[in-house]
Amino acid sequence: MEKFVIKGGAKLFGEVGIQSAKNAVLPLLAASVLTEERVEIGRCPRIADVLNMVGILGELGCETHFDGDTLCIDGADAANHEIPAALAKELRSSVFMLGSVVSRFGRARIAYPGGCDIGLRPIDLHLNGLRRLGVSVTEDGGYIDCTCSRLRGAEVLLDFPSVGATENLLLAAAKAEGTTVIRNAAKEPEIVDLQNFINRMGGRIRGAGTAVIVVEGVKKLHGTEYTPISDRIEAGTFLIACAMCGGGIAVKNTEPENIASLLHKLREISCKIRAENDKIYIECGKRLSPKIVETSPYPGFPTDLQAPMTALACVCEGATVIVENLFETRFKHVPELIRMGADITVRGRSALIRGVPRLRGADVFASDLRGGAALTLAAISAEGESVVTDLRFIDRGYSSFEYKLRALGARIRRVRI
Ligand code: EPZ
Repeated sequence: MEKFVIKGGAKLFGEVGIQSAKNAVLPLLAASVLTEERVEIGRCPRIADVLNMVGILGELGCETHFDGDTLCIDGADAANHEIPAALAKELRSSVFMLGSVVSRFGRARIAYPGGCDIGLRPIDLHLNGLRRLGVSVTEDGGYIDCTCSRLRGAEVLLDFPSVGATENLLLAAAKAEGTTVIRNAAKEPEIVDLQNFINRMGGRIRGAGTAVIVVEGVKKLHGTEYTPISDRIEAGTFLIACAMCGGGIAVKNTEPENIASLLHKLREISCKIRAENDKIYIECGKRLSPKIVETSPYPGFPTDLQAPMTALACVCEGATVIVENLFETRFKHVPELIRMGADITVRGRSALIRGVPRLRGADVFASDLRGGAALTLAAISAEGESVVTDLRFIDRGYSSFEYKLRALGARIRRVRI
């Protein structure tokens, strides 16, 4: 088991670079199965979720290797349509292999996906959408079996703008016969990135970033080279770290417009924020309560920054209400923050936080990716020493997390117990 040992109290200064977006890279890896030609993905983070997805591609018969930070995938010899349960259970994004694998092989078999334990996370929207495209889907004994002789374009209305379901349908529709229209589609920047990637491969998709996406199926997709958008959640995590700990940092290699909702909240908290091209400068202010933070689908406040924002609200002056509208149980970091002296009351999907001047160091446990990041930030800002246990979750989504924080002045080290 690995832990962070953190001595709190350091202010953060300096500059930090951001990796390619985990939640953009994962669907691009699924899309690489749609061609038999070579695909190269630039600035690819070596995080656990990406390495697990690379493992899945290997099981399908793809050849993969890193050339520096470029991930190269050659799917010419891919022939297996079954994704092993051990890998499928490791991460949520295994589910959108269904769209690309059934498109490539006419069949796909996968165990129910894993992912952070932040709610029920059903996949009904994925499966019903695939059925609309002509896929026969059976669920038996924890496995999903998909068969389809020829994918046909169709109108699909999503009951909820699910990110993964939108991505799965784009993957399945890209080479379907005819046109697919996805209504009530998710609008996240990662969806736009997937559209751009598939179009770079010869696809014909338009409308990503809006609620209606039109996919004109093509017969063939070819290889390409592509560098994904940067990770808006990693960028937001470092901005919140500075707002919590004090000081002033620059976050580079970002797309500021992709986290406009966070920048707005940080200005409400009285941080000084300046965005210049791909850099965002932040100076910590008086930390006034933002009053209310409600998560919602893009372009609303991202649910993936709810936990770090909850940690920040703990040391803001005044009371803050945090409402988590996307997932049923995404407050597992709250009991750990309370052990650090936070004053938080949770009722259902809402948390009432009364700010305290400072948190106290404590031994805390991470139980999901973004909650683990939130506890790390809290420990860096707290008085005294903390231990954050079980870094497996953090390692799923942040590469070189402690190195980047240490370079900004945090007193943090990883120990293996
Ligand atoms: C993606 O998960 C992200 N993961 C999540 O990031 C992110 O929190 C989420 O989108 C929301 O932005 C990846 O991209 C790999 P959803 P996904 O489908 O696709 C319900 C992180 O920390 N729903 O948009 O699973 C679902 O239960 C991770 O990086 C159904 O009801 O999210 C949830 O309440 C965590 N039926 C809501 O929709 C379905 O078939 C949003 O889920 C699918 C989803």
